[in-house]
Parts: sequence; structure tokens; C-alpha cells
Amino acid sequence: MYILGLESSCDETACAVVQIDPRAAELDGLPTPLVLSDVIASQVDLHNRWGGIVPEIAARRHLENILPTLNSALVEAGVTLSQIGGIAVTRGPGLVGALLVAVQVGKSIAFAQGIPFLGVNHLEGHLFSPFLRLPGQHATPPPLPHLGVLVSGGHTALVHVADVGAYRVLGSTVDDAAGEAFDKVGKLLGMPYPAGPIIDRLAQAGDARAFRFPRAMRGPRQRQALSFSGLKTAAATLLAKQGPLLGEAMRADFCAGFQAAIVEQIVRKAALALEDAPDLRAVTLSGGVACNTGLRAGLAELATSRGLPFFVAPPRFCTDNAAMIAGVGAIRLQRGERADLALNAVAHLPLATP
Ligand code: KG4
Ligand code: ZN
Repeated sequence: MYILGLESSCDETACAVVQIDPRAAELDGLPTPLVLSDVIASQVDLHNRWGGIVPEIAARRHLENILPTLNSALVEAGVTLSQIGGIAVTRGPGLVGALLVAVQVGKSIAFAQGIPFLGVNHLEGHLFSPFLRLPGQHATPPPLPHLGVLVSGGHTALVHVADVGAYRVLGSTVDDAAGEAFDKVGKLLGMPYPAGPIIDRLAQAGDARAFRFPRAMRGPRQRQALSFSGLKTAAATLLAKQGPLLGEAMRADFCAGFQAAIVEQIVRKAALALEDAPDLRAVTLSGGVACNTGLRAGLAELATSRGLPFFVAPPRFCTDNAAMIAGVGAIRLQRGERADLALNAVAHLPLATP
């Protein structure tokens, strides 16, 4: 069965087609949706001019981009609309005006074609990105239950994932998301949005011990809490003391120290979560910050040291995309879940919302 996914929660208009084995529902464990196409129209350059995402501009641009993006996704997948068996859209969390574009387009097509329709949680899409598979790839779904480490621009959470829809949050940030910290500190360094990938690249050539960044949330009462806003303040204080970072090498050292502080905290909290939930059988990493080379290496090392397999999607499925929405939508649709056409977009949508 072919499933179309639509995503417009922030500044990327994305459409994807995945294929799911019709016998998947009878399989042991979860299926691995096959990604046939995944097209993204990014607005990053448009918003950079304003120094941040302008919700009104984002919504208007989604409206212009969504049908051409959808067309490209169908063409790339080699299927026509009449072959699509169901539609999944992101219903939240995100910018409500932006979300409404994919929700409305998805509903209209589902109604016109007479096919099932479903709204999915963007965070759930990220969590299941390690299940996606590309043509020609061998499918090894992460076993359940596993620890889902979800690190994006808006969220940072450690989740006990027992099934699609069965989540228990074992830890989460009490202030900024890790991606937000990367972007804010990058801004202090004069970098464009998103600064995460730039800091990551510079950090690879730097000495993480050259600048001292604090290690947050070490107390026993903060076992399930992460925090990144103090790091931003520490970065601003260090920069004020140091003056301008002179030359590429000093910038690299600064980025390496900052990134190491973020990675250390996430890995330390993931280790505690594994202690707290001994039934966990694997570790997965998802969300835009899952592209980070230091975090990938740090969590892979943790999982290996605990004798657990580690799963992370290729970078293009870690940042916002529609394949992850189509993928989790396909599993839910195959289980018979449906939304009616009254479904609305929700700006603040917790992960566990049915
Ligand atoms: O998941 P995502 O595309 O959007 C949200 O749902 O938030 O995540 C975007 C975030 C941005 O903060 C961006 O700076 C960060 O992911 N990011 C990275 C890297 N690539 C993207 N952060 C650190 N290192 C990277 N390589
Ligand atoms: Zn996202």
C-alpha cells in the first residue's frame, strides 16, 4: 500500500510517498516503511533575512509550495494519486498557521479520492525515523521497547517507546531544546540559522578542553531533567570575557567545547534512563540534532557499552521531512486508525496525545 505524507509544521514544506507491506500487520514487531520519495521545499533563506522564522510568511509560503512539492513527490515515487491508499499529515506541534496548510490539503485530497486520512504527531514522526528504509536497503527495525532519544530544535526528550502510541517520557529539558541552544549560540557567533550544522563542522577540528563550559543538571533531584539555557549564558559570558574569537582555530575550539557540553549531558541522561528502565532493548536517536557527529558517536558508544544496538536514520530523515510522517502514518493506518475530516491543527501537542 502507498501512503502519502504531508508536513508543514515549521519552515519546510515536505511531501513523501512510502510503501508498506500489506502483510506488515501480521508481522512480529513493527514494519519498516519503504521511502519511495521525499521532497522538501525549504524556506530557510527566506526567514534568515528576518533573523528567525516569521509564522505568517511561513504559512503563505507553504501554501505556494505544497502542491508543486506534492506533485514532485508523486513523480519521484512513480505513482499517481489514484494509487495512493491513505494520507498522513502532521497535526502538531508547530506553528498553527503553517500546520493548517498540510492538514487542509491532506483532508481535501482524502475527501476527493475517498481514501483514509490520519493526523500524526510531529514528534512521533521523528521518533520512528530510524524505522524508515530506502530501496535496496536491508530492513532491521529497532526492537521494542527501546530508548528513543529525540533531540530537535523544539524538543529534547528521552522516551521509553513500547509501541506506536505507547510512550513514557524518562527525561526532558526544563528550558531550551538542544537544537535551540546550538542555534542561539551560533547567532552569538554571527552564524546564520540553523547554526547546528556549522558548529558541528567547526567542532570537529577544535579542542574541546580549550574553553570551559559548565556541566548542568548533576544533582540527584534532577535525574530526569535536562537543561540547555545555562550553556547559552555561559557561552555569552565566555565571549564577553574573551573578546572576539580570533581566527578559525579559536572558533573551532569554542564550538568543540560547547558541543561537548551538550553531548555529555544528553549521553549522561540517556545512561540514567537506561538504568531506570532495564527493559529497554535498544537506543535510537532522532530529530535534527541527531545529525550531530559528536552526539551520534557518543550515544553509539553508550549503547555498545551496555550491549544494546544503536539506530539512527540518515541525516536527511533526522531533520524535518515528510517520510517520517508518512512512515508512522502508514503503520497507524494499517492498524485501522482513522481521523475524520473535522481534524484540526494543534500548536501544542504532547507526544502521548492519542
Ligand atoms: O528536527 P528539526 O529539523 O526541526 C525541529 O523539529 O525542530 O531540527 C532542527 C534543529 C536545528 O536547531 C538545527 O540547528 C539542528 O536541528 N541541527 C543540528 C545539526 N543539524 C541540524 N544541530 C547540531 N548539529 C548538527 N549537525
Ligand atoms: Zn522536527
